[in-house]
Amino acid sequence: MSLLFNHAVENLKPSESIKYIEKAKLMKMQGIDVIGLGGGDPDFPTPKKICDAAYEGMTTKENTHYTLGRGIPALRNRIARKLNEENTIKCTEENILVTPGGKMAIYNSIRAMLNEGDEVLCLDPSWVSYAPIVSSSGGKPVSVELSYDNNYKFNADLLEAVTTEKTKMVIINYPCNPTGRILHEEEALELVKYLKAHENVVILSDEVYEKIIYDGNKHISIGSYGEIADRVITINGFSKCAAMTGWRLGYVCAPKEILKRIASLWEHIMTCTSGFIQDGGLAALDCTKEMGEMQKCYELRRNAFIYALNKIPGISCKYPEGAFYAWVKFNIDGMNSYEICDFLIEEARVVGVPGDAYGLGGDKCLRFSFANSMEDLMEAAKRIEIAMKKLNITDNHLKTGKRSK
Ligand SMILES: Cc1ncc(COP(=O)(O)O)c(C=O)c1O
Repeated sequence: MSLLFNHAVENLKPSESIKYIEKAKLMKMQGIDVIGLGGGDPDFPTPKKICDAAYEGMTTKENTHYTLGRGIPALRNRIARKLNEENTIKCTEENILVTPGGKMAIYNSIRAMLNEGDEVLCLDPSWVSYAPIVSSSGGKPVSVELSYDNNYKFNADLLEAVTTEKTKMVIINYPCNPTGRILHEEEALELVKYLKAHENVVILSDEVYEKIIYDGNKHISIGSYGEIADRVITINGFSKCAAMTGWRLGYVCAPKEILKRIASLWEHIMTCTSGFIQDGGLAALDCTKEMGEMQKCYELRRNAFIYALNKIPGISCKYPEGAFYAWVKFNIDGMNSYEICDFLIEEARVVGVPGDAYGLGGDKCLRFSFANSMEDLMEAAKRIEIAMKKLNITDNHLKTGKRSK
């Protein structure tokens, strides 16, 4: 059999994060006492109010048939109100499309915007799925390498350096998976400056972790900057902030001309998002208290976990400003992030995701999710400490990263 497959799809590499999540699951199934910190799935149950609303949706309301393609009006309306009030994004329900998950919202938006050969700037390290979605849509992902030492800050010059006449889109993701950085005002202004200089470029802003922000900081939406708002596609979803990963619910907010294209593709691919799931989403938008409690819990875990990790010789980790990932640098000579990851699976029975899976800028880093119990996190830190001792890293070697012989 010699079938010719779509080249763009055939060349896709499997998702590294899914690979490591599955590795931990398989080890557990074999009875191995492993702590899986690879996944990005909140360990909290979905708040009851949300489940009740969905149950009512599928029973009393009989919301079990096709809905209007772009989403039920009540939800699109409520999302628009939320975006106006919380994110200062000027929009109405006409700008909203409800999708099964943020990932689908991203896929549809990219697919609707790109022509063959269009270039898309990804601020690396970046979420594992952007580049594959871009390349499978005929586009070319272009890395903008941000550096650990500069705390992954970016400016317009870094974007300019890789911009060509084919540049079509910049993808940003704040709070960032994997680095935990949030968007700061000065960087938002750099983006505005860049976009004003390139009138054919759009921004896709993935804000799925927007409510998981620490130290009293506030989330900034780039769509709130009026001068460029007509070229911003905002993506959000319910998975992370409302602990609804399995529900598959997200949305796109885009200027009408852009949304029209996204929605016409969407109608042929998906028809609509499940109605009773959307009822759940409507209830989720009023779960401020419940989401706030989860955020507080993540903050406590962040503080304890990062503190414990930083006490281990050879390891350094900045306190993430948002999302629920520790982005940990292992100052170990002669091992790349994949080897460090395998070493920790072998020696500590702790599973993370190698930093190099997130594009450039993740050298010697591992991502560990703290959407896991405090008990597991503390145990993981202890095990990592014991494993690191086997490498004989001394204080003298921390600066160079060299191990003693
Ligand atoms: C940065 C980022 N964007 C989007 C998604 C997709 O989330 P979902 O499709 O569950 O809404 C994820 C999930 O891991 C993510 O980390």
